[in-house]
Amino acid sequence: MANDVTKPLLDVLLGNRHDPVPVWMMRQAGRHLPEYLELRSRAKNFLDFCYTPSLATEATLQPIERYDMDGAILFADILLVLDALGQGVRFEKGVGPIVEPVEPGGRLNKVPVQTAKERLSPVYETVSRVRDKLDQSKTLIGFAGAPWTVGLYAIEGRGGTDKNTARLWAHENPAGLDLLLDDLVEVTAHYMAAQAEAGVDALMMFESWAEGLANDVFEQIIVQPNRKLVSRLRELGVDVPIIGFPRGAGTMLPAYVDATAVNAVGLDTAISPGFVNRELPDRFPVQGHLDPLLLLAGGEKMDRRVIELIEAYRDRPHIFNLGHGVLPETPIKNVERVLEIIRNRAK
Ligand code: CP3
Repeated sequence: MANDVTKPLLDVLLGNRHDPVPVWMMRQAGRHLPEYLELRSRAKNFLDFCYTPSLATEATLQPIERYDMDGAILFADILLVLDALGQGVRFEKGVGPIVEPVEPGGRLNKVPVQTAKERLSPVYETVSRVRDKLDQSKTLIGFAGAPWTVGLYAIEGRGGTDKNTARLWAHENPAGLDLLLDDLVEVTAHYMAAQAEAGVDALMMFESWAEGLANDVFEQIIVQPNRKLVSRLRELGVDVPIIGFPRGAGTMLPAYVDATAVNAVGLDTAISPGFVNRELPDRFPVQGHLDPLLLLAGGEKMDRRVIELIEAYRDRPHIFNLGHGVLPETPIKNVERVLEIIRNRAK
């Protein structure tokens, strides 16, 4: 991977420092933006929205137009892969995602990988449309859910549960769970490779539910599947940087970084800069990790924390982001304030 000075965010992922630090925010396109709500009202439902390239392209570009973020994240959802695998996904207002649950001990291989990949074609179309419209200085980030986080929704059948049904599988039927996660590694690798082919500059694996696992289970269901996914992507010829986001990894973060061969890591709200700087390799790129609730609250405490995070990672490649997604109630002026602090501090 060469340097890319024209795209500061991509260049940080390649191991170089930038000042001001490049910035984007998880869920930067979403319900905190009035223009998103307007766009969303034009689609029949959320899945249709994701599968309509004209709408998804506009949603991807909205935060760039409003905030001039350094990165655009493809507008899609991690559950599209389950939909493509024939697991029947619905998003219900006020409830969240509902998925046809996989049978206990079952697999996610009803549909051939190539068919699932083709069903996701509208997403690749969105990538190429965004690429055409996006300024050359901006980094386009593609993504997918990491195997455990996606598998969890298929096992639990919906969001918002205590996740113990899925976590119990790891103890009662670890071999069966490995097979299900392998199914997801394969389809996700092809899905992400197609995004790379369509023109994304970087890829992110959202392992949003890596929290609350015993260390041996973490090794089995987080580290190994993420490692396999990275290695499968490289086998498929993908050469863009890959960001891992094992949310809630805690003390197991260094092992994750070491074993998976990700190029950068997304840090969650709960991790401390001291831990990161002590435990991760010196030049390893990090992305994170302002508390989304502090972004919502705003004020001087937020201002101080933004500066503290930038200072803490002064000596390593750093992309400013949140520890999790922007919350729908977040005031736009708080996002603008964060950007102002970051950009005005530049030497
Ligand atoms: O700006 C972006 O970050 C890009 C798009 C994006 C969405 N979902 C759009 C979305 C991304 C990267 C995701 C990832 C995603 N989806 C994750 C991993 C990241 C995380 O937040 O932990 C997860 C777990 C999902 C699953 C999912 N999608 C849930 C649980 C929900 C419902 C919760 C909610 O906020 O309503 C969604 C819906 C969803 N995905 C919305 C958006 C903008 C809200 C839908 C709406 O418009 O009502």
